[in-house]
Amino acid sequence: MNIAPPVSVRVTGRKRLVRRGEKKMLEKVNIAEKLGLFDEHWSPKIAGEVGDSYVKLVKFRGEFVWHQHETEDEMFLVVKGNIKIKLRDGDLSLGEGEFVVIPRGVEHMPVAEEEAHVLLFEAKTVLNTGDVRNERTLTELERV
Ligand code: NI
Repeated sequence: MNIAPPVSVRVTGRKRLVRRGEKKMLEKVNIAEKLGLFDEHWSPKIAGEVGDSYVKLVKFRGEFVWHQHETEDEMFLVVKGNIKIKLRDGDLSLGEGEFVVIPRGVEHMPVAEEEAHVLLFEAKTVLNTGDVRNERTLTELERV
């Protein structure tokens, strides 16, 4: 390998060297393939990182819970199926290939009559149930 050693650390493990040099191998992500790796509903999995945000994949079925995120916007992109995002002033229906950004502070409740697959793009600090804590709250997300 022809990576210049880090200036401040001359003796270092390979793992560290790779990370410092940002030479990590880039891998493409096949969304359908990743979605095939899990079955649970309402359990977002981390599929990528963009700066301070995560790309998450999640399966919806049924109703989630009314909540809001005080400081974070949340993007929902439908990959498969149809979803509804209930809002206090009306519902929003989204089909495959459509997305919406729910602004911070706006109460919402995702719903899917039949299973739907969704890509979420949101700050790493987002908690799935926002300001609500219940049995659906997930503080640690798995990666796919
Ligand atoms: Ni939310």
